[in-house]
Amino acid sequence: MTPFIDYKVFQNLSYGLYILTSAEGEKKNGQIINTAVQVTSDPPRVSVIVNKANLTHDIILRSNIFGLSVLDAETPMTFIGLFGFRSGRDIDKLAKANFKTGFTGCPLVLDHALSVLEAELIDHVSLGTHSIFIGTVVNTEVLREGSPLTYQYYHEVLRGKSPPAAPTFDPTERPQSSRST
Ligand SMILES: Cc1cc2nc3c(=O)[nH]c(=O)nc-3n(C[C@H](O)[C@H](O)[C@H](O)COP(=O)(O)O)c2cc1C
Repeated sequence: MTPFIDYKVFQNLSYGLYILTSAEGEKKNGQIINTAVQVTSDPPRVSVIVNKANLTHDIILRSNIFGLSVLDAETPMTFIGLFGFRSGRDIDKLAKANFKTGFTGCPLVLDHALSVLEAELIDHVSLGTHSIFIGTVVNTEVLREGSPLTYQYYHEVLRGKSPPAAPTFDPTERPQSSRST
């Protein structure tokens, strides 16, 4: 048997969608991720996977803190486009969103968020194009009840795409002509 990588297999893996934030002094930023996972319960730890070219990657490495907002199923595509297809290197994304400053000093995006958490970085591993950041959760808040936005809903109902910077980008998918990332 000849080994074969069919990217359709990866589409069967399930995820949510989140805003990952960080801040270093006055520099604050956030981006969409689908790669947040709780990795331990005691102590509570989460991991996130971030493209090395993203501004958020640089800020997490320097500040050692990150925040997550769990997006709800009603999140509009315009909001996902702002945080998922634009870079903080070009625009101030958080100037266009409501957020509060958490216990660690990390901005926590409140728009379309069901809950928020913030974490202190304990380790990171290079994956080549991306890094996996692992953090201990030091503060959490449930903002309201609702259904979280899933990656499947984003693709199948909202007809959303994932840019090449996303770890789950499918290189066999036809590129979207209207989007540059
Ligand atoms: C649905 C979706 C999922 C994404 N998942 C990730 C992810 O898990 N990790 C990542 O590094 N980028 C992911 N991205 C891409 C980033 O959100 C995007 O590259 C963003 O513009 C980076 O912003 P920054 O340069 O301001 O940090 C995703 C984008 C979308 C639309």
